[in-house]
Amino acid sequence: MRRIYIFDTTLRDGEQTPRVTLEPQEKLRIARQLEEMGVDVIEAGFPIASPGDVEAVTIISKEIKNSTVCGLARSVKKDIDVAWSALQYARKPRIHVFIATSEIHMKYKLKKTKEEVLEQAVESVRYARSFCDDVEFSAEDATRSDPEFLKEVFLGVIDAGATVINVPDTVGYCIPNEFGNFIAQIKSYLPEDIILSIHCHNDLGLATANSLLGVLNGANQVEVAVNGLGERAGNAALEEVVMAIRTRKDAFDAYTNLNTEYIINLSRLVSGFTGIPVQPNKAIVGINAFAHEAGIHQDGVLKERSTYEIMNPKDIGLDSSEIVLGKHSGRHALNERLKQLGYSLSEEELMKVFEKFKVLADEKREILDRDLITLLEEKKLEIPVYRLINMEITTRSDNSSYAVVNLERGEETFHGEAEGDGPVEALFNAIEKAVEMHFELIDFSLKSVTTGKDALGESLVKLKKNGEIFTGRGTSKNVLEASAIAYINAINRALV
Ligand code: KIV
Ligand code: ZN
Repeated sequence: MRRIYIFDTTLRDGEQTPRVTLEPQEKLRIARQLEEMGVDVIEAGFPIASPGDVEAVTIISKEIKNSTVCGLARSVKKDIDVAWSALQYARKPRIHVFIATSEIHMKYKLKKTKEEVLEQAVESVRYARSFCDDVEFSAEDATRSDPEFLKEVFLGVIDAGATVINVPDTVGYCIPNEFGNFIAQIKSYLPEDIILSIHCHNDLGLATANSLLGVLNGANQVEVAVNGLGERAGNAALEEVVMAIRTRKDAFDAYTNLNTEYIINLSRLVSGFTGIPVQPNKAIVGINAFAHEAGIHQDGVLKERSTYEIMNPKDIGLDSSEIVLGKHSGRHALNERLKQLGYSLSEEELMKVFEKFKVLADEKREILDRDLITLLEEKKLEIPVYRLINMEITTRSDNSSYAVVNLERGEETFHGEAEGDGPVEALFNAIEKAVEMHFELIDFSLKSVTTGKDALGESLVKLKKNGEIFTGRGTSKNVLEASAIAYINAINRALV
């Protein structure tokens, strides 16, 4: 199998993500993780761009020992000098020089002729080689460049000492088969010992596909960024390229040296430092990438993981895949979750809980463990005597409130209305009117038992009558309803 080198540019192109800056210490922490993971080359920054980048590349060069540390430089002496001033401490340094080779860039941006660009490229590589044995050359906008001119430039810089030739699809213009053919053609004339690298941008959402076509056509270094960060729509995502090569090694006949179990933590670290969240359905590292919601899928995964999972979540560092309980979930998944929570229900009990679960799932996007526990607790405590049918509360500007409640008990219905100092007192007074009993309220509490805007509230009520204390509990997304249910629950206990 062919070894594919992974060149990570999270700290350079990734930092070019609009509105992202990383502190040198943050870059160092990411670099440590990249090294531990086994990344071959860490592009630590673009030193000429800012003093912060010089500092970051310097501290990373001083500390990182196993990965090559690379710094970017335009094909000009000053850039190369500054890059080397930071890279000189690295055990394995690489200077990465680039110049644009497409008509459009040469004419409008550089305002240089082909001859001038060729000469500048060759000179800069020669100059970089005077400092360092490992020099990468990138032809910016290579995929929109004249292939014959590109060949001339590549062979020229190799002659001047370049060890790695990088082919960037700078503006994400290529489509996969086209990019693959482009790389195959370049591979055909490069000397064997030269590393052929690719660097794909995601403007058309094709960065990973293009990178993989590049690998299939002879590239042996892929430039990637964690979470697909990078200029504009970003670079090919490290996690996607690496997991595709690993998962489909049959198709690629290739491997990388990465320990993929670091992927999820690295993704979270980068997302935290950059402030760029990972979209939920992002391949490999999105929170939904290993989550199943549909009943049919959950049933399949619970019977045999490989029915709906092509990768093992452990391979990217997750403990397991996730069964998300929501409105599409089935009884199998609910029962499994309840078992994990320590509940063992009969078939009949499960049916009842499942019905309640479906009602709640219609209102709430995701049913969390705490929601389930609450549902089961309510079921256990419920003594079917009085039940709340509906309630209405009006609060006036002087804070006094008026409550109307309708209850049922078997076939009978009961109505109560009352004032109170605040909505809770009015509600409790109205319930007492309806049941025609009076209790002493000795404790009342209300708390949120799940998180989020649509969280469940749980109310606890303690009532006293004839020296005995009765506790009632109620849950609802409406906190006043939870309080009413708890009050009625306590009354029911008193009746029983
Ligand atoms: O996209 C690009 O062309 C680059 C080069 C500097 C490699 O990032
Ligand atoms: Zn780029």
